[in-house]
Amino acid sequence: MLLRVPWAHKMELDAAAAALDAGQYTLDEIRKYEAVYGQNFVSPGGAGTARQIFSLLQWAPGMQVLDVGCGLGGAALLLAQLYGAKVHGIDLSRNMLAQAAVRSAQAGLAHAVSWEHADILEYQPQQPSDVVHSRDVFLHIHRKPQLLAALMRCLRPGGSLLFSDYLCGPAPHSAEFTDYIRIRNYHLCTLAGYCALLQSAGFEVLVAEDRTAAFVEILERELGGMQSAALSETERRALAHSWQRKIERAQAGEQRWGVFCARRAPG
Ligand SMILES: C[S@@+](CC[C@H](N)C(=O)[O-])C[C@H]1O[C@@H](n2cnc3c(N)ncnc32)[C@H](O)[C@@H]1O
Repeated sequence: MLLRVPWAHKMELDAAAAALDAGQYTLDEIRKYEAVYGQNFVSPGGAGTARQIFSLLQWAPGMQVLDVGCGLGGAALLLAQLYGAKVHGIDLSRNMLAQAAVRSAQAGLAHAVSWEHADILEYQPQQPSDVVHSRDVFLHIHRKPQLLAALMRCLRPGGSLLFSDYLCGPAPHSAEFTDYIRIRNYHLCTLAGYCALLQSAGFEVLVAEDRTAAFVEILERELGGMQSAALSETERRALAHSWQRKIERAQAGEQRWGVFCARRAPG
């Protein structure tokens, strides 16, 4: 058996973090994404979509939530504000976490949220959570069975997993879509593929919805909003092109978007 020493793990973590911070999530890329998605968010629909997804669960004050791939901390801050949740956010990007720390302090919510640099695949929680929440993060993670095992060990028995993610339609895929996934280094599942993975990891699947139609509406709204967003003309043109391509791929049924709620068996 191959034993992994802690420093080897730390080197892998640092390398993966550096790749994200120097690639898709440089401070400048984050600024542009946020200008389109909305304050504190780097995922479709910003705070409005976050609230809709939260409504799939019953919340109670003091619930312990782990936000996986917390980004700028938008969901964590909203969960603390709306429901009195205690949220621990983990992320692989140091750029994201530095911003999350600033924003929680500005919002006066530093007592309710905490941040940690970690890769979910290797994460060993201090305590199990009532809810594991994640928005549009798992697309980055290729080893889905390991991911779901990690999510399971972060939850208390009876706890809930609530997430959204980019999905793909059934193969074969066009050359354009295949290139998009390769260039982004994404790993996307079909809706049915995710359900099978969740079930084999021991989750009970409560909600598995293909929300591609809503995704297209969100993208169109964001495309319209770019006109007044704080972006240079060159940035606006590049983002508008990228959003238009996403809309076309979603309308063709290749790129999809799903929302899931699953439960760890009680006891
Ligand atoms: C599209 S952003 C979404 C951020 C946030 N969830 C939101 O809704 O605004 C994806 C996030 O996942 C993080 N991420 C990617 N791989 C990760 C991993 N293995 N462990 C933890 N975070 C990861 C990225 O650094 C990034 O912040």
